Amino acid sequence: MLAASVFAADFAALGQSARLALNAGASLLHVDIMDGHFVPNLSMGPLVCAALRRVCPDTFLDVHLMVTDPKEFIPAFVKAGANSISFHVEAVKNPKELAAYARDMGVSVGLASNPDTQVSAIEPFLNDFDLHLVMSVHPGFSGQGFIEKSLVKTKWIRERVGARARVEMDGGVEPSNGSRCVAAGADVLVSASALFGQSNIEQAAKALLDSFSATSRVD
Ligand code: DX5
Ligand code: ZN
Repeated sequence: MLAASVFAADFAALGQSARLALNAGASLLHVDIMDGHFVPNLSMGPLVCAALRRVCPDTFLDVHLMVTDPKEFIPAFVKAGANSISFHVEAVKNPKELAAYARDMGVSVGLASNPDTQVSAIEPFLNDFDLHLVMSVHPGFSGQGFIEKSLVKTKWIRERVGARARVEMDGGVEPSNGSRCVAAGADVLVSASALFGQSNIEQAAKALLDSFSATSRVD
C-alpha cells in the first residue's frame, strides 16, 4: 500500500492534494507530527489532522508522532480522527504500556524506530503493535536519501512478525527502491516528496505503485 505523506503536500491546498493522491491510488494518508524537540523541525498539530478527517471522512489516517512525549498528545490525535498512531521507541520508557493506553482509546498502534536504532530495542515489543514503522531516513525532513541498511531491519521484523503486523517503511521511498522495500517485507510504503514533490501527482503515484509490484530481492 502507498501511504501518502502530506508533509510534502501544498499546505495551502491540503484537502485537494490529499484527495488527488488518494484518487491516484494511495491507500491511506500519513500524517507527520514533529515537535521541534524529538526532531529539529515543526510540522503540524491535531487541528490539521482534524481538517484532513473532515475532507477525507473515510480515509485511514496514519499518524506518525515524532515527539518527545507521545502520551501527552495521543488523546488529541484520537479526537482528531486518527486511525493509527505510531510513536518512537527512542522516546518512550514503556512502549507496551503506551500501546495499551492508545489502543484503549480505539486506535491501532505502531512502533517507530530510527535508522540507527538496533533491532534489540524493538525485539521485546514485536507482538505488542499492529505496525512496525522502519525509518529509512533520519526523521525530521522530507526529501532525504533512502538509507539502504533499513531494508535489513524491515526483513528482520517481517521474518519475526509474519502476517501479525504491518511493516511500514518511511523516508526516501521512490520508484528506484520500492520493489526492494516490498521484497524486504514492507507492506506499507510512505512517500512524501516522490509523490507530492512531483509536478504530476497521478503519474508519480503510478510510478511508485508500479515499482511496488516489480520483482526484486533483498539478500
Ligand atoms: C520524515 C517523515 C516522513 C517524510 C517522508 O521525518 O517521517 O514521513 O514525510 O518524506 P520523503 O518521502 O520525502 O522522504
Ligand atoms: Zn513519517
